[in-house]
Amino acid sequence: MAKIAPSILSADFSQLGEQVSIIEKAGADLIHVDVMDGHFVPNISFGAPVMKCLCEKTKLPFDVHLMIEEPDKYIKDFVTDQTEYITVHQEACVHLDRTIEYIKSLGIKAGVALNPATPTETIDWILDKADLVLVMSVNPGFGGQKFISYTLDKVKELAEERKKRNLSFEIEIDGGADLTNIDSIIENGTDIVVAGSSVFRSDDPAETVRKMKDR
Ligand code: DX5
Ligand code: ZN
Repeated sequence: MAKIAPSILSADFSQLGEQVSIIEKAGADLIHVDVMDGHFVPNISFGAPVMKCLCEKTKLPFDVHLMIEEPDKYIKDFVTDQTEYITVHQEACVHLDRTIEYIKSLGIKAGVALNPATPTETIDWILDKADLVLVMSVNPGFGGQKFISYTLDKVKELAEERKKRNLSFEIEIDGGADLTNIDSIIENGTDIVVAGSSVFRSDDPAETVRKMKDR
């Protein structure tokens, strides 16, 4: 069974605490925290203070997705008792190996994200160290975009590589996931499915999470 990580980017920010407890009760596994800086991606979302407020509202672990330039400067701000993963973009890290080591030294699982057009081969050498590979299935920056289907081939490549090399990193897909495509997302080897608008913009977010968990 795949883990479901609703992205609060598509939640009603004025009701964030409430929205998070709804999806927690429905069985969500993680809270996906989309951090955007207006440089690496053409949008600004929120920073660590907003995420930290949620510590009082939920016991769910945080899955932090940093869509920012120079992430090393800010990684520490996102460390809390509930932070399970911090993911940086391959395209934003000049010294990716160092950044992964740094995240792990803080006692947090380290993730690497790949934009749709970035080949999986670019992270071949750090697959042994990474705890998570996040495959972007939309171009990062906004919720509610259409799923780019070729990215499933990247999930498949990563799952094969993991098997071949007997590695243990998890594979996450992020962007455009919903009840119509979640089956093929999971079949191709995804362990964690991020879902923003399909959960928080649905008529019944709790029911959507339950249906996703059933797959
Ligand atoms: C996109 C973000 C995603 C996105 C998911 O830049 O990283 O996490 O918010 O939202 P949906 O599921 O609506 O594509
Ligand atoms: Zn994300």
